[in-house]
Amino acid sequence: RAMAIVKEFEEKCGTPDAKLKQVADAMTVEMHAGLASEGGSKLKMLISFVDNLPTGDEKGVFYALDLGGTNFRVLRVQLGGKEGGIVHQEFAEASIPPALMSGSSDALFDYIAEKLANFVDEEEKIFHQPPGRQRELGFTFSFPVMQTSIDSGTLIRWTKGFSIDDTVGQDVVAELTKALQRKGVQMRVSALVNDTIGTLAGGKYANKDVDVAVILGTGTNAAYVERAQAIPKWHGPLPNSGKMVINMEWGNFMSSHLPLTDYDHALDVESLNPGEQIFEKITSGMYLGEILRRVLLRIAEEASFFGDDVPLKLKIPFVLRTPEMSAMHQDTSSDLRVVGVKMKDILEISNTSLKQRRVVVELCNIVATRGARLAAAGILGVLKKMGRDTLRDGGPEKTVIAMDGGLYEHYTKYRKCLENALSELLGEEIASSIVTEHSNDGSGIGAALLAASHSQYLEDKS
Ligand code: BG6
Ligand code: GLC
Repeated sequence: RAMAIVKEFEEKCGTPDAKLKQVADAMTVEMHAGLASEGGSKLKMLISFVDNLPTGDEKGVFYALDLGGTNFRVLRVQLGGKEGGIVHQEFAEASIPPALMSGSSDALFDYIAEKLANFVDEEEKIFHQPPGRQRELGFTFSFPVMQTSIDSGTLIRWTKGFSIDDTVGQDVVAELTKALQRKGVQMRVSALVNDTIGTLAGGKYANKDVDVAVILGTGTNAAYVERAQAIPKWHGPLPNSGKMVINMEWGNFMSSHLPLTDYDHALDVESLNPGEQIFEKITSGMYLGEILRRVLLRIAEEASFFGDDVPLKLKIPFVLRTPEMSAMHQDTSSDLRVVGVKMKDILEISNTSLKQRRVVVELCNIVATRGARLAAAGILGVLKKMGRDTLRDGGPEKTVIAMDGGLYEHYTKYRKCLENALSELLGEEIASSIVTEHSNDGSGIGAALLAASHSQYLEDKS
């Protein structure tokens, strides 16, 4: 019985190439629709107000604050201009206390402002801020925001593990600025960016062939450089560069071609944001371990897979986190020792047999493979929209995709599976000109770089 449930799950999660191509085509279609009009698609295709990516000329000292899904970072970067590059950088990292993810807006912003204040104090004991010059900050805020300019924008809705009602509809720069004032920190927010935009900017600074950024972490999302004329919903002046960076918010992508199972529907219904972020819920780090838990619970309940009693721990939502799933999936010991230990430590299921452990690994593989292959299909959809999926006159155009996020960084099997699927889908000749590259911590640096290019002191960059 248990094996029948596993088999059925595997079939429902199937992602043959033909299906991935349908998903990629659907992504391209939705991209067009999202660019055509506000609300034209589940894909918001948000305008970032970034029409120039870093050139290398950026100069000066800038701060960045990077609020992701699980952690946040504060950075101080000294940029040396053309010859200098990144002269110096320091950062501090902290996790976001879960209680703050569903408390009040003021509590969250006070907390991050306080951490930033402490960091600034420490830094400036060593590096003095030039007198008469206001500190400037790039704010990476990894949630969907309707930007009104490069340095302002309202939160459309929370995603991932956050749900703080009173922030929705507010200008998050104003919220942060007020909190900074409450803490007595003098600082101007010069750029508000999504983590994908920050990663794209940081990636471009390191490698000029970067035109796409993808985050695979707690959540998932992508950004890319679009032609401004290909954005019908943009009614502002045409940028001199002719370009505009788009934050796709692809986590909210939905298509009838997505291989969804009953477990995914149940997860969605019980989530903080039912009906939203469906692509994210089958692809990203916040959810993969939870999908696995749900399948394990089902085989425990319906096939007594772990004995007569259903292990109580298995009933706790989100108890099985993706890093643990990754460790089990990548267990290379012959007796699957790591799987045994995790089952015992996390789920309090002792003495698992080798056969049971093998089933756990198989389930990890099914869940991770579906997610990774769908992420590859998403990337193919973006490349198609950019016209980079076919050979142009004069040969293939080199495109580098800057990748970041805990899932991509730490779950090697997931990453390899994504890379293989992408090459397979593109075909050998084109795959050789498309490169995925880890952009470590690019999003904080990217935000600092964008703060530099939108500095109030641009005339005097010394
Ligand atoms: C980090 C980036 O490396 O990855 C953040 O600097 C981003 O901006 C994060 O939000 C996403 O990964 P995770 O795993 O923390 O959600
Ligand atoms: C979620 C957010 C998005 C972010 C992504 C990765 O999908 O909505 O803004 O880029 O997670 O952190």
